[in-house]
Amino acid sequence: MANMAGLKEAEAKHYNFNWNTMSESQSYIDQNQDKFLNELFQLLRIPSISTDSTKKDAIQDAANFLINQLNSLNLNRVELFDTPGNPIVYGEHCPYEDKPTVLIYGHYDVQPADPLELWTSEPFEPVIKEGNIFARGASDDKGQAFTHVKALESFVKSGQPIPVNVKIILEGEEEIGSPNLVPFLESHADLLACDMVLISDTAMFGKDQPSITYGLRGLAYMEVEVVGPNRDLHSGVYGGAVENPLNVLCEMIAKMKNEDGEIRIEGFYDSVVPLTGADRAASAALPFDEEGYKKSLEIEEVHGEKGYTTLERASARPTLDVNGIWGGYTGEGAKTVLPSKANAKISMRLVPDQNPKEIAKLFAAHVQKIAPKTVKVKVTEHHGGFASITDLDFYGLKAAAKAFEEIYQKEVLFSREGGSIPIVADFKRVLGVESILMGFGLTSNAIHSPNEHFSVEDFHRGIKTSAKFFELLPGFNA
Ligand code: BES
Ligand code: ZN
Repeated sequence: MANMAGLKEAEAKHYNFNWNTMSESQSYIDQNQDKFLNELFQLLRIPSISTDSTKKDAIQDAANFLINQLNSLNLNRVELFDTPGNPIVYGEHCPYEDKPTVLIYGHYDVQPADPLELWTSEPFEPVIKEGNIFARGASDDKGQAFTHVKALESFVKSGQPIPVNVKIILEGEEEIGSPNLVPFLESHADLLACDMVLISDTAMFGKDQPSITYGLRGLAYMEVEVVGPNRDLHSGVYGGAVENPLNVLCEMIAKMKNEDGEIRIEGFYDSVVPLTGADRAASAALPFDEEGYKKSLEIEEVHGEKGYTTLERASARPTLDVNGIWGGYTGEGAKTVLPSKANAKISMRLVPDQNPKEIAKLFAAHVQKIAPKTVKVKVTEHHGGFASITDLDFYGLKAAAKAFEEIYQKEVLFSREGGSIPIVADFKRVLGVESILMGFGLTSNAIHSPNEHFSVEDFHRGIKTSAKFFELLPGFNA
């Protein structure tokens, strides 16, 4: 593990702080970097993969670890809520009548680690290499969510009152679409009542470039099965006379977009809120390095819907993508076969005001309509969620921007991102509140991929920014 001792002075200088006026909480954070890393490592060692039903013990262990963390903070209330799926970790400390209540949200579940052979170190044995913590969940979202737990600790353990009312909810099913958090939110709206939600589960615009994400895309995730003959056939004996479901599936997918990259599903764009001139100007003003983007992906050209920039395509326009496709023979060598079945998983990223249920219906109707009579097609819907936009005038965002600026010593950018955190739209619908997306990750963190990592420095600055936000918030008015 990196040795953090002795960094205090140098960092104070680097971040341009006056050491003597730094709050007790900020000093505590600087003095406890090794301890925080150690504790995060304990959490990262737990393989709490929500898509894997054999990992239920790990899910429970991660939830218990977080409950123990919250229990050490002398909060008014700490509780583990069972659900039909994975448990929800909850804590609250709301002593003030006259101060805002912040609901911190994060998730302790992670994506599967495969393909394992592409990891350069064990996914559930965190290591620090070149200033980054490598482990599944380091950035998405254990490392980021943990910043807030440690920020709360920095007040409690340095003998300071937490400056605002706080509630914290950490779920174990974000990566599978929060199936149990949505009903929990609806049935516990009073418990979760707050003035704003604070989430660190997104990326900053670039290294050392703090940013607040004010838009997330929604999602509709579909699965298609195309069935032809009742069994796999000899492609010489039957080929040419009997439909091939894999050919049909590929043809149907190819027809879902036109040459301009527009999605050809009837009604798909009907409820899309078009980008305004102001939206487009704000996006164009961001310091996006398209050459660097291409280089980092080793691609010659970007690709997407005609008439939109790369940033717009990747964050503010809807998409349709095949996530997986299978069928027929994929083993070694050649086997001449005409497959009986073909399958694909297809996701659509959505923008305001597309309704994921309606889009799923339109998709299913479209597929049935274009399918030839030679096959039977089954379409199933997986999880989904609405897109969200945070009001840029919201006072909480201003406090968050100020906190970022004090810690990073750099002006904050406001950008939209293409990923989804569907519960954000539910927070708005059920609790009527805005969410502050205070991401400390980077797009290059390889979340959901092999070698996921999170910068040690951003973990540290994240804790400081969170604590600073709690300190500054009472000075900002609704
Ligand atoms: N942390 C991500 C979402 C994210 C990533 C937002 C990058 C912005 C930038 C989150 O954990 C995630 O992966 N969400 C899923 C949602 C789905 C499973 C419903 C996603 O976006 O695919
Ligand atoms: Zn996440």
